[in-house]
Amino acid sequence: MQARPRLIVATRNAHKTAEIRSMIGDRYEVLDATHFPQCPEIDETGTTFLENARLKALGVSRVVEGWVLSDDSGLEVDALGGAPGVWSSSFGGEEGNHPLNNARLIREMAGKFERRARFRCTMVLARSGEEVAHFSGVVEGRIIEVARGSEGFGYDPLFIPEGYSETFSELGEEVKNSLSHRARALAQVADFLRDLSRGESN
Ligand code: IMP
Repeated sequence: MQARPRLIVATRNAHKTAEIRSMIGDRYEVLDATHFPQCPEIDETGTTFLENARLKALGVSRVVEGWVLSDDSGLEVDALGGAPGVWSSSFGGEEGNHPLNNARLIREMAGKFERRARFRCTMVLARSGEEVAHFSGVVEGRIIEVARGSEGFGYDPLFIPEGYSETFSELGEEVKNSLSHRARALAQVADFLRDLSRGESN
């Protein structure tokens, strides 16, 4: 049997790797940065999701062989001029502190009539230090005033996707994963890789 091509996810977050593995199916052997000690820690110094996703994909693809996939995501709120955007994970003042992030969002949105927002996810596919393609997935919605629900992470308890009346936290994982920004970007990656492997087998 022929060995499957490798897809290395430029992350150390096992949850992200598992999500990507389940969507890409078994045509690729999906690994991540934890399997490659030579993978550098990458500073996310970009000012856009695309810049940060590129830094991660190119950084890893210079030191490991195979397809490398990275992502960068966050929340854009219209009434805040697109903030927190690329600074979503440290909006509250401390990297990765979701309760602080949510508290700041509630504070800044207090009394605002305009509640529109979206989650955006940008993914970059790279090989041998070169970008091959990039993809973007968006889910539109609105920010509510008081957190609701217990599932998910980050801003999920404050975000209601368009067409629904419950937050991502109330809707739960299955519904969220069927319409999330990450799922939408990943569906495009899966299509791209499928076309690529068809081309290679012709
Ligand atoms: P990352 O690109 O996955 O590291 O996400 C950056 C930050 O964006 C996270 O720390 C969260 O604050 C926010 N974020 C990204 N995706 C989601 C999501 O699906 N739900 C809630 N918050 C998210």
